[in-house]
Amino acid sequence: MSYSKKVLDHYENPRNVGSFAVNSKNVGTSLVGAPSCGDVMKLQIKVNKKGIIEDACFKTYGCGSAIASSSLLTEWVKGKSLNEALNIKNTSIVKELNLPPVKIHCSILAEDAIKKAIADYNSKNNK
Ligand code: FES
Ligand code: FES
Repeated sequence: MSYSKKVLDHYENPRNVGSFAVNSKNVGTSLVGAPSCGDVMKLQIKVNKKGIIEDACFKTYGCGSAIASSSLLTEWVKGKSLNEALNIKNTSIVKELNLPPVKIHCSILAEDAIKKAIADYNSKNNK
């Protein structure tokens, strides 16, 4: 199988790799795994007082498509409201990265990760 140019670009130059302090109130964290392949993705968002995601970062232990999906997602969510970020669909990631059918679950991992990071932020802030 060959990776698309965009996957390789994110794989070789991943955007926003890192982590934020898990205990900060303005940070939402998720850790999701794909049972079928064992890949693990950690995604974090930093939310400002207006409810806008001002920063995002990730760490992914997994395949090139999972790394590219999470890297792309961190770029997409920056500047978005929580509701806008909740509406990001894995199918948009598949389209942007040109993922083949066997790699669709990698994009689902990224969609799960942002949904759970937002849920974590909301529960910390009683929303
Ligand atoms: Fe997980 Fe892709 S099978 S590395
Ligand atoms: Fe499992 Fe990519 S092969 S997340």
